[in-house]
Amino acid sequence: MNIFFKVILPGLTILLNGCAGSASIIPASNSDESTAYRNNCGSCHALPHPKRLSYTAWKNLIPVMQIRMKERRMPDLDVETKKQIMSYLEKYSQY
Ligand code: HEC
Repeated sequence: MNIFFKVILPGLTILLNGCAGSASIIPASNSDESTAYRNNCGSCHALPHPKRLSYTAWKNLIPVMQIRMKERRMPDLDVETKKQIMSYLEKYSQY
């Protein structure tokens, strides 16, 4: 075993999983709901994993994100899209 396998490779793996990796790997990543989530929640920052928060916390946070969108003159989420995002977060959030 050389230093690459002992130190550098595990380090890289942790780095990638922590940042780039987890941003794109979300549950049910081919569903319409996850597509709505990906299309609307990953443009200002990396896409947060739905397990990051509880559903209660998501329900409080999404209105804040809608304010952030408004501040940047982005169109508001339409009713159907918001429903899909909330349903997605309800299924895959922490609890
Ligand atoms: C217009 C840009 C923008 C969009 C679009 C956006 N966000 Fe954010 N988000 C922010 C900003 C700015 C912050 C930093 C905290 C703050 O200013 O409220 C943030 C912070 C967050 C955080 C971290 C909060 C914390 O306490 O750690 C999460 C999670 C999050 N956003 C989820 C989402 C989700 C889910 C969506 C899709 C509905 C979304 N964001 C869409 C701008 C955006």
